[in-house]
Amino acid sequence: TRADKEGHKHFMAKEIAEQPTVIAEAIRAYLPSGSDEVRLPGEGLDFGQVDRLTMVACGTAYFACLTAKYWFEQLARIPVEVDIASEFRYREPPIPDRTVALFVSQSGETADTLAALRYCEGKADKIVSVVNVPESSIARESQLALEIHAGVEIGVASTKAFTCQLSVLLMLALKAAQDRGTLTPEQIADHLSALRGLPALLNAALDQEDAIRTAAQKLSEARDVLFLGRGAMYPLAHEGALKLKEISYIHAEAYASGELKHGPIALIDKHMPVVVMAPRDALFDKSISNMQEVMARKGKVLLISDDDGIAEAQDGVWSTVRMPHAHPSLTPILYAVPAQLLAYHTAVAKGTDVDQPRNLAKSVTVE
Ligand code: G6P
Repeated sequence: TRADKEGHKHFMAKEIAEQPTVIAEAIRAYLPSGSDEVRLPGEGLDFGQVDRLTMVACGTAYFACLTAKYWFEQLARIPVEVDIASEFRYREPPIPDRTVALFVSQSGETADTLAALRYCEGKADKIVSVVNVPESSIARESQLALEIHAGVEIGVASTKAFTCQLSVLLMLALKAAQDRGTLTPEQIADHLSALRGLPALLNAALDQEDAIRTAAQKLSEARDVLFLGRGAMYPLAHEGALKLKEISYIHAEAYASGELKHGPIALIDKHMPVVVMAPRDALFDKSISNMQEVMARKGKVLLISDDDGIAEAQDGVWSTVRMPHAHPSLTPILYAVPAQLLAYHTAVAKGTDVDQPRNLAKSVTVE
């Protein structure tokens, strides 16, 4: 009903708009006001005793894991493996000593993820989950269940659960850095203060909706769309492509920018929109040189970047979306917003059923 959507046309639009609020709640849950360190519930977890992290999930939750790999490796120097649950469970990988197995699931009921968790029982040192539903099977069967506090998510295409998963995973990576002493207390404090500013940044990203709607109008005429990103923006490119194909039925795929030459460049012509997600960070120049390779072949570039990035690289691009400048660890969370809004407005322009896309289910409890 209209009331449930609180004035929004779709649940997906409502859930995208709720992100600053629910993320503020997730941050409060693990970082109580005034606290200078991340706090986990129960007896917690000492990452000083951990040599390796194995993360397993499906769909959007899998892309949250792929993003978190960058944080755990860079901030806490823990080797991380990320796997799709349906592959992991049948491959039956060896689980070395001092491994933490981490399962990410919005519903906590995805059949493949639950089977992967059960495979790790008695093999991993600790079974941890990151879930939205604390009463779910995955939460109940884990030794430590971390709630993401996203609230009920109704749109089949996951939005606020994804950014809440990312926020909790970033806090977990910071807790790991704390335990392992891989960041100085000042560096931790710097991250935590940046995190506390995340809801305001998300609001600023949401303010770009008109520009994104205009870009989406153009995108809705495409047959195929390519998403490019580097570093932690690479999993984000995957999430952007997934959202777009799920609800607009436009074929979309993601590539690591540096892989462009190894295949997808053959597809580029004037009919091919390419979404480039590139904050002005340490990898920006590399991303922009890949973007120029696209434009040299008449590909139409939609550049999502911050003021500095756009000022530097907007010559000849088809369209731009401006994000606020943010701490480099926060950009994967922030850039999820334009990726979601782009898919949403493209689907609206095409007139597809945004909240109930064909053939998809919110929770996949059978194999
Ligand atoms: C389905 C949903 C996706 C979700 C995936 C994993 O495919 O449509 O939105 O990301 O399942 O679900 P989970 O509940 O385990 O996060």
